[in-house]
Amino acid sequence: MNTPEPISRVEPTTRQDGMPVLEVATPRGMAEIHRHGATVTHFQKTGEAPLLFLSQCSRFEAGSPIRGGIPICFPWFGQPEGRAFMHGYARITQWEVEAVGYEPNGAVKVRLRLPHGEQDAAFPPFALEYTVTIEEALTLELRVTNQSPDAPFEFEECLHTYFHVGDIEQVTVGGLKGLHYLDRLAGSERKHETQAAVQFASEVDRIYLEAPPKLEVRDAALGRRIRIETLNARCAVVWNPWINKARAMPDFGDDEYRRMVCVESGNVGSLRRVLQPGESSHLTVRLSSAPL
Ligand code: BG6
Repeated sequence: MNTPEPISRVEPTTRQDGMPVLEVATPRGMAEIHRHGATVTHFQKTGEAPLLFLSQCSRFEAGSPIRGGIPICFPWFGQPEGRAFMHGYARITQWEVEAVGYEPNGAVKVRLRLPHGEQDAAFPPFALEYTVTIEEALTLELRVTNQSPDAPFEFEECLHTYFHVGDIEQVTVGGLKGLHYLDRLAGSERKHETQAAVQFASEVDRIYLEAPPKLEVRDAALGRRIRIETLNARCAVVWNPWINKARAMPDFGDDEYRRMVCVESGNVGSLRRVLQPGESSHLTVRLSSAPL
């Protein structure tokens, strides 16, 4: 008996700038995944506006992260003391595609792996795998295994999701009320969220602690709500650079802050992960959307 042709398609291609990508098309959603940083740069549910923001000014070159989509911050977040650059090296490393799977319902699963490199020498041996599932929703799973026989592995991890929105001044992020957050614009001062929904009228850069497994971005201009469902993400980072920071970033358009918001999911700072020898962890984020 012949196996039926999959109803979905995955095409490895090389962009004009030389960047290798996978283009994924399914009946209910399409995506683009760069091997550079394993960055998902595009996801679009059939019949809807793109879910992810990608800057028109993004660099696409070795050594620079992509400005938009979902960069992976790992094995550190931000720039802790002693680290030469921001958000770790996973987002600027070329990942390997390990497997592509077609589900009977049309969903596509792409599994990538971070190859071992010089930078790993500072850490116990580990494996980092990332599985991206494309269907009507986009699901991301980051799996870390400590392969050391005797040393614990301590790391930070964060899926740095840039959402595409119609107008930042008409966007709210719900689900954070009552949480403590570290305000990165006030020397990481610990504050308490009293608002039912976070709104944006100036720069915001906050790490919410003990985040719930469901958050919602409401976007009145695009008439859409985005649901963020997580497993094993104790932190939610909310970021919009606003006008001055947007102007200062060379790989971001001056007005682009109006059309994006980052709501990032992970385990950072004091809530970083520690894996004992042989242990694995997984961080899962499912992104779906519906009309308001
Ligand atoms: C966010 C941080 O996660 O990433 C911000 O909270 C930072 O402080 C932003 O500005 C972007 O970082 P980068 O390295 O991609 O410019």
